[in-house]
Amino acid sequence: MKLTIFGSTGQTGLQVVSAALAAGHEVTALVRHTASGLQPHSRLRVLHGQALSPPDVGRAIHGCDAVLSALGSREGRRETFLYSRSASLMLDAMRNSGVRRIIAVSALPLLPAEQKTFVERRIVHPLLDQFFGGSYDDMRRMEVLHAVAGMDWTVLRPPRLTNGRATGSYREALDSRLERARSISRADLAAAMVAAVDARRLIGHAVTIAH
Ligand SMILES: NC(=O)c1ccc[n+]([C@@H]2O[C@H](COP(=O)([O-])OP(=O)(O)OC[C@H]3O[C@@H](n4cnc5c(N)ncnc54)[C@H](OP(=O)(O)O)[C@@H]3O)[C@@H](O)[C@H]2O)c1
Repeated sequence: MKLTIFGSTGQTGLQVVSAALAAGHEVTALVRHTASGLQPHSRLRVLHGQALSPPDVGRAIHGCDAVLSALGSREGRRETFLYSRSASLMLDAMRNSGVRRIIAVSALPLLPAEQKTFVERRIVHPLLDQFFGGSYDDMRRMEVLHAVAGMDWTVLRPPRLTNGRATGSYREALDSRLERARSISRADLAAAMVAAVDARRLIGHAVTIAH
C-alpha cells in the first residue's frame, strides 16, 4: 500500500517509516528540515514541506491509501494547535483525494475520566497535565475531528514511550482502559500503527496500547 507518514523524522516516526518499509509498503514522508535522519530507500519518497501548510499536506496525501501521523508537539504545558490543525488539514486533503484511512498517535491521559482509577483521575493525570496539558488539550481536539470526519480513523493512546526494542508483543483495548498500562516502546507503537492500516476491527476506535 501507499502510506503517507507525518512526523516521520521524530523518534516514533522514524520507526514507523522503517516498519512500513519492512512490511513492503511504499512510503511518502513529509519533512520540514533537510537533515531529517531518514535513510534513503527505493520505496521511500521524501517530500519537503510543512504539516500546517494546506498545499504541502495535500501534495503529500494525494494518491496514498492511508495516512499515519506520529507528529508531536514539544510545547509541553503551553498551548499548541499542531495536532488539531494538522489533523484538520489531513482530513480535508483526504476528502479531496478520496483517501479514507487515517491512524494517529494520541496519549493515554485522553482516556475518559470515568474510565480512570481514582489515583489516575485525582493525582497522576493532573500531575501530567502540569507538564503536557497544552498537548493533551490539542490531542482532545484532534480526536474529536477524527471522530466526526466520517473517515476510517483510529487513534492510538500509548502511555510513556521508551526507546526499547521491538518486542512484537503489546496489548490493545478498544475505547477502554488497560490494566497496568505503564509504557510501550516506540518501536512497538510504530509496528502497531503500521499493522493498524488494514486492521478493520480498529476503525472508529481510540485504542489504548501498552506492553
Ligand atoms: N513521550 C512520551 O512518553 C509520549 C507518551 C504518549 C504519547 N506521546 C506522543 O507520541 C507521539 C510521538 O512522540 P515522539 O516522542 O516520537 O515525538 P518526537 O520525537 O518529538 O517527534 C515529533 C515529530 O513531530 C514533528 N513536529 C513537531 N513540531 C512540528 C511542527 N510544528 N510542524 C511539523 N512537524 C512538527 C517533528 O519534526 P522535526 O523532526 O522536524 O522536529 C517530529 O517528526 C507524540 O504525539 C507524543 O505527544 C508521547
